[in-house]
Amino acid sequence: MTTSSVPTTRNEVADRLIDGSIRRSHNSLLEIDWDAAQDPDLFYMPPEMLTLYGTALWEQMTHRERVELSRQEVANTFSRAVWFENTLNQGLLRAMLYQDPTSAHVHYALTELGDETRHMVMFGKMVSAIGAEPYRLSLPQALSVQALPMFYKGLMLYVAALCGEEVIDDVQRRFMHHPQLQPIVAQTMRIHIAEEARHIRFAREGVRRHVRTAPWWSRTFCATANGAGAFILDRMFLDKRAYERCGLPVAEAVRQARANEHSRARRRDSFADLRGFLEDNGLLNPVSRFMWRRYGFLA
Ligand SMILES: [Fe+2]
Ligand SMILES: [Fe+2]
Repeated sequence: MTTSSVPTTRNEVADRLIDGSIRRSHNSLLEIDWDAAQDPDLFYMPPEMLTLYGTALWEQMTHRERVELSRQEVANTFSRAVWFENTLNQGLLRAMLYQDPTSAHVHYALTELGDETRHMVMFGKMVSAIGAEPYRLSLPQALSVQALPMFYKGLMLYVAALCGEEVIDDVQRRFMHHPQLQPIVAQTMRIHIAEEARHIRFAREGVRRHVRTAPWWSRTFCATANGAGAFILDRMFLDKRAYERCGLPVAEAVRQARANEHSRARRRDSFADLRGFLEDNGLLNPVSRFMWRRYGFLA
C-alpha cells in the first residue's frame, strides 16, 4: 500500500470499511444450519476457555459434565454479548443525530449497526440451538445497562466499543479452529470475527481521532471509566448461575474459578493488544489499571 492510499480522514476510513462490508458480510440465518445434529462429546466452548479448566473441581468432572459447563458458559457469554451490542448500537444511533446523514462516516456507522443487529439474532439463535436457557438481566442489571449508552459519547463511544470487541475477538481468533469445538459455535465465531475486524478498525480510528482533540476531562473520564470494561468482561466469562445449572457446588466453584491461574493467564493474553493500544493513547490510569488487574486482565 502506498502512503497516498492510506486513509486519513474519518470519511476515507469509512469508505474503505463500506467497501469491505460490500465484499464480505454474512447472514447467519442463511449460512448456519441451526438444526444440524450436535455431537454430545464436542465442547460448546474450548475447554481451555472455561472458568474451571485445570482446577481441582475440573479434575473431578466427567467429560460430559465438562461439555455441559461449556454449553452453559457459552450461553452466558453470548447472552451478554446481545445486550452489549445493543448498547453500542444505541451509542452509534445517538451520535448520528448530530452528524451529516450524507457522509460516509454515518453510512458506515449504519452498516455496523446492521452487522450488530444480525449478530444479536445470531447469538440468540445459537443459545436457542444449543438448548440452553439464556442468561437474562435482572431488573437492576437492566436498569444499569440502560445507563451505559448515555456515557457513549465521542471518545468514550469508541473506547467502550474496543473494550468489548477486542478482548472477545482475541479469544475467538485463538480458539476458532479448536479440534473439539461444536461446528455451530465455530461458524458463529467465523462470522463474528470477519465483521468485527471492521468494527475494531472503525473504533481504533475513532479513538485516535478523538484523543487528539478531546479535552483533558474527557480523556481522564475515558481513561478511568474503561476499567468498568474489566467488570463487564468478567461477568461475560463467569456467571455463578452456570455452576448452579450444572449442579456444581456453587460457592466452591466460584472460589476455584477466581483463584484459577490458567483463566487469569488467558485473560491477560486476550487483553494484551488492547492494553498496548490504550497505553499508547494515554487511556489507562491507576484506577482503570486497578480494575483490569482486579479481574485478572493485568498481572
Ligand atoms: Fe458483533
Ligand atoms: Fe462490533
